[in-house]
Amino acid sequence: MTSLTASLATADQPIGFVDSGIGGLPYLRRARELLPEERFVYLADRRHFPYGVQSRDAIREIVMNAVAELVSVARPKMVVVACNTASVVSLSELRRTFSIPFVGVVPAIKPAGAAAPDGRIGVLATERTVEDPYVSDLIREFAPNSGLVLVPAGELVEIIESRLTLASPKEILDILRQSAAKLIAESVNVVVLGCTHFTHIRDELSELLRHEVPVLDSVEGVARQIVRVCGHAGRAGDAAHAAAGPKTEDLLLVTGREARREPGGAAAGDAVENYRRLAVRFNLKLLAQEPVK
Ligand code: DGL
Repeated sequence: MTSLTASLATADQPIGFVDSGIGGLPYLRRARELLPEERFVYLADRRHFPYGVQSRDAIREIVMNAVAELVSVARPKMVVVACNTASVVSLSELRRTFSIPFVGVVPAIKPAGAAAPDGRIGVLATERTVEDPYVSDLIREFAPNSGLVLVPAGELVEIIESRLTLASPKEILDILRQSAAKLIAESVNVVVLGCTHFTHIRDELSELLRHEVPVLDSVEGVARQIVRVCGHAGRAGDAAHAAAGPKTEDLLLVTGREARREPGGAAAGDAVENYRRLAVRFNLKLLAQEPVK
């Protein structure tokens, strides 16, 4: 990866986030609510999107490079790997390589196992995540007697990435209908959103499941973990820090991406507009490495 931009580091070290795209934004929003004095820098590694269809080795290398980029431009005091695919594949190597703390995001199998110990758990995630041994280990440990329905939903990830803010509510529901139908046909008792992109459409999925099945994500748990880690890594709640004056803007950094047609008929240009709107919606200053055509 070439350098995103000149250093954005300031004395006030931010909390860094990384994902292949927009998936981690709901996590950032919740962390920001809990830590209003902190500064946040979010790296959307669109250049390598989607992660979820690539090999473990490829993803590991991509994530190591994305984090190295984030560390070099923003000097975060900790990094949230706001992507299940990246976390299950790369967390241990990231922790071995970098000296800052990491918070990962993994499918919420533990609460799902508690909610349906003898029932059926539907896991909606990328191909890479549903196949990963990390997830089978979580299942063995926390949901050994639950039936499991793994639903790979790569196409859904692509559409959310490029069309979330552009699609009409009906279009979003139509896109989700197939996955919802599968979960209903499999009579699942609880659904786990095992890909951060799906946290954006959680309410719509619940609606299609007629609010009869709990839909779990890891937003709250991860945000609380960020607060805990930040307490060690930084200055959350520190009076001197709070008194330092108005904080600088939180940033959304986007790595470059060549033009291409997105699946589902969406043009790559849609993704650019989607990012513009998301930056406004999440109150982030958008900085792109190179214009995405
Ligand atoms: N948001 C990522 C996750 O949580 C995956 C998206 C992708 O395939 O790039 O798994």
